[in-house]
Amino acid sequence: MAKKFQSIKGFYDILPEATPLWFKLEDTAREVLSQYGYNNIRMPVVEPTELFVRSVGEHTDIVEKEMYAWEDALNGDKLTLRPEGTAGCVRAVVQENLTYNGPQRLWYIGPMFRHENVQKGRQRQFHQVGCEAFGFDGPEVDAEQIVMLARLWKALGITDVELQINSIGDADERAQYRQTLITYFEQHADVLDEDAKRRLHTNPLRILDSKNPNMQSVCEQAPKLMDCLGEASLVHFEQLCHLLKEAGVDYVINHRLVRGLDYYNRTVFEWVTTKLGSQGTIAGGGRYDTLVERLGGKPTTACGFAIGLERVFLLMQAYEVTADNALDVYLVNVGETAQQKAFAVAETLREQGLSVVLHAGGGSFKSQMKKADRSGACYAAILGDDEAAAGELSLKPLLQAGEQKRCQWTDVSQLIRG
Ligand code: HAM
Repeated sequence: MAKKFQSIKGFYDILPEATPLWFKLEDTAREVLSQYGYNNIRMPVVEPTELFVRSVGEHTDIVEKEMYAWEDALNGDKLTLRPEGTAGCVRAVVQENLTYNGPQRLWYIGPMFRHENVQKGRQRQFHQVGCEAFGFDGPEVDAEQIVMLARLWKALGITDVELQINSIGDADERAQYRQTLITYFEQHADVLDEDAKRRLHTNPLRILDSKNPNMQSVCEQAPKLMDCLGEASLVHFEQLCHLLKEAGVDYVINHRLVRGLDYYNRTVFEWVTTKLGSQGTIAGGGRYDTLVERLGGKPTTACGFAIGLERVFLLMQAYEVTADNALDVYLVNVGETAQQKAFAVAETLREQGLSVVLHAGGGSFKSQMKKADRSGACYAAILGDDEAAAGELSLKPLLQAGEQKRCQWTDVSQLIRG
């Protein structure tokens, strides 16, 4: 027997039984984003490695240990499978000068790749819907994106997700805080784990994110970034809080929320659920006002977020959200005349806008009805020689109780949809 292949670790097929719920998730996201005037952009999955090093940051987990990066054997280019979408989106905005005519609201959907330890809610290929807004200075756009997410959760039937927000200030404020934090953690060096010691001089803010139970109290008592913020950052944050209150969106201020990517400044936020175990962050984002300039563009403020679609999918399942069946009719055809007509009849039904699976391969009425039942279709449309001669079909509801009814081929849609 020939060798059977397996998908590689952390890379998964999304099987047909799951796709109706995926469609519901993606369609709902699309609808909500377009309600806010976001336009879709599609970037390549492969970008120059340096793009991620310079934007996500050299000393982040993503760049240090999670990137699928390689050298192209044909021309020596250093390439990476995108671990996230913001860097590529900014690259595209700069390359195509997309903000030339004013601010832009963009969104994208697609696979991202991180070589992480695999567990529930954490894959090596996963999917994000991301939004990026360019050229909006005030906190309104931060609030808009957060409120838009609240609307999305509601539309998806997800409740009980907690919004955590924080401000990590601007670069100079963070530099000052960084020093304060290094001094503080040096004074508590005895409780720091290996990871924290490694990060102390490269990325000390990330120590605050530690999940190590032995470090919780030292992290909780650490000086707060908020106390190092200047007037402008504080006002920005206060206005954001005010806008969220006005919109009726609850939040908690999490002083330890710093995010795992280096490009952020001021607002950062995450939406967190307790229903998915340790991988409970279903979306995260914030402002990144200096990234466009650092990637060669004109100074342009920006704010964005990304949703982890697999995690939201799991959450929809946890909330028992279901998706409507897409298949209207399974066309059963028994008898010589019926079989000859069935192909054309199926087309007549499709012409009426119905989705139709035409039974193929013959078999008895009973065995075809069994297949109709298993197909998940709303109706079995039965075409026997009798019906075929009369230009009719017998319609039997499969998902709901109801009488079998006979009608003309041309009237099926009307009978089903009323
Ligand atoms: P992120 O926090 O790295 O941010 O990822 C956003 C979301 O993607 C996470 O909250 C999580 O739901 C999901 N996610 C991340 N890694 C995995 C994984 N290995 N498996 C499954 N889901 C995962 C970003 O990517 C930023 N680009 C967001 C952003 C856009 N900030 C500004 N604009």
